[in-house]
Formats: sequence, C-alpha cells, structure tokens
Amino acid sequence: MKPKVLVTREVFDEVLEYLSQHFEVTSNQSDVPFDPGTLASKLSDKEGALITLSDKIDATLLSHCPKLKTVCNIAVGYNNIDLEACTKAKVMATNTPGVLDDTTGDFTWALILATARRLTEAETYLRKGQWDGWKLKQFLGMDVHHATLGIFGLGRIGQVVARRAIGFEMKIIYHDVRRAASEIEQACRTSFVNKDELLGQADIVTIHVPYSPATHHLIGKQELEKMKPTAILINASRGGVVDDSALIEALRSGTIAGAGLDVFENEPKLNQGFLELKNVALAPHIASSSRATRYNMAMLAAKNLVAALTGEKPPNLLNPF
Ligand code: 8YV
Repeated sequence: MKPKVLVTREVFDEVLEYLSQHFEVTSNQSDVPFDPGTLASKLSDKEGALITLSDKIDATLLSHCPKLKTVCNIAVGYNNIDLEACTKAKVMATNTPGVLDDTTGDFTWALILATARRLTEAETYLRKGQWDGWKLKQFLGMDVHHATLGIFGLGRIGQVVARRAIGFEMKIIYHDVRRAASEIEQACRTSFVNKDELLGQADIVTIHVPYSPATHHLIGKQELEKMKPTAILINASRGGVVDDSALIEALRSGTIAGAGLDVFENEPKLNQGFLELKNVALAPHIASSSRATRYNMAMLAAKNLVAALTGEKPPNLLNPF
C-alpha cells in the first residue's frame, strides 16, 4: 500500500506523475482553495501534503490529521505554517529556497522600472484613448540609473536585486538584522547602513525580508515619513511587511512618490485604496511566476515530500527532527 498524500492546488502534470510513482495522490486540479474545514477533512487520512501559501497549517488543523508526517510548501516563505505546532505534532515542514531567487529578483526589477518610469499609469492612459500627442513634460518619471537603491534584507533574493543594480550604476545600500559577510557586500557592491539611514538616503526602497511577527509592518507611517518625497517603495516579499493603509495614505498625500507592489495584506482581498491611485504598479503575487521557476518550485516541494515519507531527511526541512 502506497502512502496517501494530498496536493492542495493545481500543479504541473509531471509533478503529479512523479508523486504517483511513490504515493496514492489526491489532487485538486480544479485549483479552488480549500477552506480550513475542508483541508482538515481532506488531510485526516493523509501522511503528507504538497501545499501553498493559501493553506494555513496550525495546531487546530494538525489536531484533525493524526497520520500527517509532512507538509511541503511550494514557496520559500512559510508564514502560512506554524512551525512550532508542526514540531509538537511531529510533522516535518519544508519550503523551496534557492530555485526562485533569480526569477523573483528579475520581477523586482520589473516593478522598480514600471514604478519609476510610470509605465502602468502611462499604459492605462493609452488604453483609455486619452493620448492626444507627444508632450515634452508627459509622464515625467524618475531615473533609475545612478540613483540610490536601498535594500531591506540582503538574503538570497536581496543579493540578486543588488547584483542587477550594478548594471544600472547605482549606489547600493542595505539594511538587515545581521550584517552580511564582506565577500557578499563586495560582490553586491553594497554597504551596510542602519534602518533610518536607508529610509532617508534611498531613492528606491525595496523589501526582501520574510514575514514574521518581527517584520510585521516593518514599513509603516513613521518609516514612510522618513523616506524622501521623491522616493518609491517596492515590495515583492510578503503582505504584512508593509502597512497597506499607511502606504495608501502616504501615496495619496505625496509623502512618497510611488510604489510597486506584488504582495498585499489579506491577499487576495486588495485594499481598494490602491486601485484609486495612479502612482502604483500592482501585480497579483507573481514575482516567482516564470514557467521554469514555478515548475522547479513544485518539483522541489515534491522531492521534499518523497524524501520525508521514504525515511530520508528532506533537503529543505524547516523544523528540528
Ligand atoms: C509563491 C512566494 O509563488 O515562494 C514564496 O514565498 O511568495 C511565491 O514565490 C507563493 O508563495 C505560492 O505559495
């Protein structure tokens, strides 16, 4: 008898085929997210699960899943998983670090350029048929080249963003809870500054930290007020790291010039205030979404699942075992 596993959202056929070689797989190719009650009942007889950020794994859920041995997130961020509760319930939790760094870094640059050069605002104007001719002062944006880039979090993705900035001949500064090794600073041509220095000096502030109680509202009203009025804020990390209501107010009042956002508080329920603003570039949490990378993420999560249920240590185990 093969162990039973659940795949909570639509994945690539190859991933299902790979899992089927090892497990009896229940999939959800209709891709409608399970509510907590449905997820608990679907998992009640399963030993493992391939999950995504829309699945909340906490003590209540785990209390309904006596056979569960592992939950494998198709994401590098794992704020949807209560790690302590998993450890107590002897459930291995895994994530997918590394495989999405370049793709997420690339998309951060798409947001930086779109926001600085007012691309979405200009496209909307064009689509609405409002363009009546070239004007010298039309959609005047901000130069990215030679500007100062401030990176919160010089982890894997933050480093990718920094290395791309070298081509734009930028001054690159960063802040992190821990200072990076000097080889990393040199490779990224970046220097460490404190939080207030970063906020005060950067023309572009970009966030690459995980979401946790410690980073909840890392950027709120006070921080936004410390930024230059000409600066833009970029977030391709996690909703909740930025206080969305404070950001909307700052964008409305001109406290900062613009924002490029891939993630939001309470996804997928967007704060409607964003939609009324012209000075934002918005995307629906797609920074890692290239075909190759989403495939690699799902396959890596599947490999973690296979390892966990065949007595091997999963390559990306998050909790102590
Ligand atoms: C995922 C992400 O696509 O990896 C992460 O943490 O934010 C994205 O790359 C998303 O979380 C899906 O679970």
